[in-house]
Amino acid sequence: MSESSATISSPPLQKKQTRSCLSTTLLIIIVFPVALAAVLYRLELFETVHFPSGELPQSTATAPAVNPHMRVGSEFVAEGKVHGPEDLAYDKRRRLIYTGCEDGWIKRVTVNKSVADSVVENWVSTGGRPLGIALEKSGELIVADGVLGLLRVTQKGKVEILAGEHDGLKFNLTDGVDVGEDGTIYFTDASYKYNLKDFYFDIMEGEPHGRFMSYNPATKKVTLLARNLYFANGVAVAPDQKFVVYCETVM
Ligand SMILES: *[C@@H]1O[C@H](CO)[C@@H](O)[C@H](O)[C@H]1NC(C)=O
Ligand SMILES: *[C@@H]1O[C@H](CO)[C@@H](O)[C@H](O)[C@H]1NC(C)=O
Repeated sequence: MSESSATISSPPLQKKQTRSCLSTTLLIIIVFPVALAAVLYRLELFETVHFPSGELPQSTATAPAVNPHMRVGSEFVAEGKVHGPEDLAYDKRRRLIYTGCEDGWIKRVTVNKSVADSVVENWVSTGGRPLGIALEKSGELIVADGVLGLLRVTQKGKVEILAGEHDGLKFNLTDGVDVGEDGTIYFTDASYKYNLKDFYFDIMEGEPHGRFMSYNPATKKVTLLARNLYFANGVAVAPDQKFVVYCETVM
């Protein structure tokens, strides 16, 4: 009896299995590729690029020498009191370190004899995200703020916007900065297309939206020095003032 009831109940079970099998197949054939396509090709701003086949066979640069003594005798300053310190500037005369943090504050660290005596203060909040930081000869701070653009912060803590665009194209992620002996400010905008919140789209898209520029404090003019850069980042003027180095982040 139990055997026969088993045979009776099996056909509808098989039908159900076929139906669920069919819907799974449909799901895989139609829904999955559509969902995948929607993720890979965002309909909005996202633009794909051709694979740069010439770039990959090149070997990457390596440091010609490593100094293993770099960290001998080094100590942590302001440990746990600064979050996301992207860059720093040291004012030798006043023994002050400035660094821009995630919370939008430029922290000022007074370096005393012992690191343990150092005092960390919330000095100035830009209201944006201070990334690159450099000192002018006068002791004023120049800040590449990822949200606001190129800023000067006076000794008294007044924030002044120096530049936010070049030739009508706004900065969207001002990133690195350094100041030359003659006062010229060199800085990068990592991307005009994506802001700080969306920076990873810039990297995923792999298109060059970055610029390297200079700002002349006397004329208040921005000069474009290099464009079409892949996520332009840090900037450093050579100590002998003969050249300026800037970095690209990917590709
Ligand atoms: C560190 O130096 C600053 C400035 O000279 C001073 O105001 C502060 O009291 C010093 N802090 C300590 C803990 O010594
Ligand atoms: C900055 O980037 C965002 C996307 O991250 C974009 O929506 C916005 O239009 C950009 N701003 C400018 C001025 O292009």
